Amino acid sequence: MEEKILKAAQLLRKGELVAIPTETVYGLAANAFLDDAIRSIYELKNRPLINPLIFHVKSIDCIYKLAKNVPNDAIKLAEAFWPGPLTMVLDKKDHISDLATAGKRTIGIRMPDHEVTLNLLEMLEFPLVAPSANRSNHISPTSADHVRQSFKDRAPDILDGGDCKTGIESTIVGFKTDGVYLYRQGAISINEIEALLGCKVLEMQNEVSPESPGMFKKHYSPNTPLYIADRISSALMSDNDKRVGLISYRENHVEFNAVVHRSLSENGDLNEAASNLYAALYELDSLGLDFILVERVPERGIGKAINDRLTRAAKETIDINLI
Ligand code: TXA
Ligand code: MG
Repeated sequence: MEEKILKAAQLLRKGELVAIPTETVYGLAANAFLDDAIRSIYELKNRPLINPLIFHVKSIDCIYKLAKNVPNDAIKLAEAFWPGPLTMVLDKKDHISDLATAGKRTIGIRMPDHEVTLNLLEMLEFPLVAPSANRSNHISPTSADHVRQSFKDRAPDILDGGDCKTGIESTIVGFKTDGVYLYRQGAISINEIEALLGCKVLEMQNEVSPESPGMFKKHYSPNTPLYIADRISSALMSDNDKRVGLISYRENHVEFNAVVHRSLSENGDLNEAASNLYAALYELDSLGLDFILVERVPERGIGKAINDRLTRAAKETIDINLI
């Protein structure tokens, strides 16, 4: 592995892209101080230039090299949750690339919790900007295979660190004069953040938030139409000739007339469900199904982030009995 990390470091120094493992999803990384390299991220992903990238750093101290006016709460959160799936949006320093931050005065920063990528960051003289390593609006990858599946013959070099253990993207928060705001639901729940800071985390009002343009309503989609059902229950699809893939939360509903069944967590463990979600979507998306039906999970903890991603991926929410 050491040699593979060295090779990745060399490629990144030269301005090339490398897909890197993190605990959430794979990132498509570039040297954060080379605009040409950053430009190729947007090109390869076909990502709109208005959607800023997250800076990945090796330590809490790095915050001060990239950001200014850093609130105490940001340091408190970093001390509690880094390395880990929390991205903080802070005021950026003037030398930071406008391309990477999409012209904003702010910068998103996080320290990922993956040994391979932390070793890589230790070797480098610069932070890495890395959006999820998938085509824009497609499913985020939780394995090296998913990265290849998403980019096909345009796949970048991949530093394979195995399957991502958390499996859903980082929580994103920002700081304003009136408090801490949630920009994206993610692996760390609002409750955990509120408990630590002893204050309410405020929700952004706009659906398409100008603050965090990556939160467009339609996002994270497989190519196959996806529908969400509130509960699969015992409903049957007897007179239906469609090829359906079913992803349920707990039980495998074998009575349901689906071509393929996947359960996210038979024990009802939401963390396990999160780590299986994107792999199930990648798998079912490759089967040429007419549609994928996914059961909503309980709206607590990381379940909120799962439901958020499902809602963005879905064509619509349906009442299963209507099919
Ligand atoms: O877990 C993760 O966050 C993964 C791994 C690779 O670290 N990365 C990820 O990146 O999900 P991406 O690009 O797919 O999503 C980043 C989100 C976007 O919604 C973007 O708009 C938001 O972060 N973002 C980045 N910088 C921001 C900024 N300065 N202000 C507001 N939102 C920002
Ligand atoms: Mg993404």
